[in-house]
Amino acid sequence: MKILITAGPTREKIDPVRFISNHSSGRMGYALAQAALDAGHKVTLISGPVSISAPEGADLINVISAAEMAESVKKHAPEAHAVIMCAAVADYRPAHPLDSKMKKQSGNLVLELERTEDILATLGKNKRPGQLLIGFAAETDDLEKNAVDKLRRKNLDWIAANAVSDGFGTLTNRVTLFHRSGKKTVLPLGRKSDVARDILKEVLS
Ligand code: CTP
Repeated sequence: MKILITAGPTREKIDPVRFISNHSSGRMGYALAQAALDAGHKVTLISGPVSISAPEGADLINVISAAEMAESVKKHAPEAHAVIMCAAVADYRPAHPLDSKMKKQSGNLVLELERTEDILATLGKNKRPGQLLIGFAAETDDLEKNAVDKLRRKNLDWIAANAVSDGFGTLTNRVTLFHRSGKKTVLPLGRKSDVARDILKEVLS
């Protein structure tokens, strides 16, 4: 199968030296790419800026911003049998990024942010028959409710949910998978490589 995986954070430019981002390490997405390669699949890995190296054998595409990730995902998704959106894509970006370094002034600074495209929701709207769409939900509260809401809202087949404290920027993860049918699969806490293998086994079975 051809599997498209996204990983890591995105960076949203404020000015030439500053950006908005998050603590995603990319490890879960990279582990999924490795597990998919190990299982004999063809992998395209679209990655935000991370400090780990990509699995050998994956077609790696590096992007920086949510807009670049959206463009690349939409280009490669049509030929993918399965798309796994593991990236922590920024929901907002500065509305007016500057080409010159911002100088400080007295008083507070208010930064106007605008919405980025919800890449997964776009894929959900354009899903072709037979294509598997898998999302991730990292939550601090109401894990199951928020995850299942996202599964439905974005027209996904599966969503992999984890508490932020269990898997964001860490070496291990504890994931629960929810299927559109209502099926729920609780995976044990483990190294991201083991969790990745378990996720793939369940969603591709
Ligand atoms: N995602 C995406 N494009 C975005 C934001 C998120 O494709 N602009 C994807 C992520 O890769 C992940 C899933 O959507 O697979 C969940 O992201 P999240 O931001 O938590 O979902 P939201 O629906 O935006 O909900 P909220 O931010 O309110 O928790």
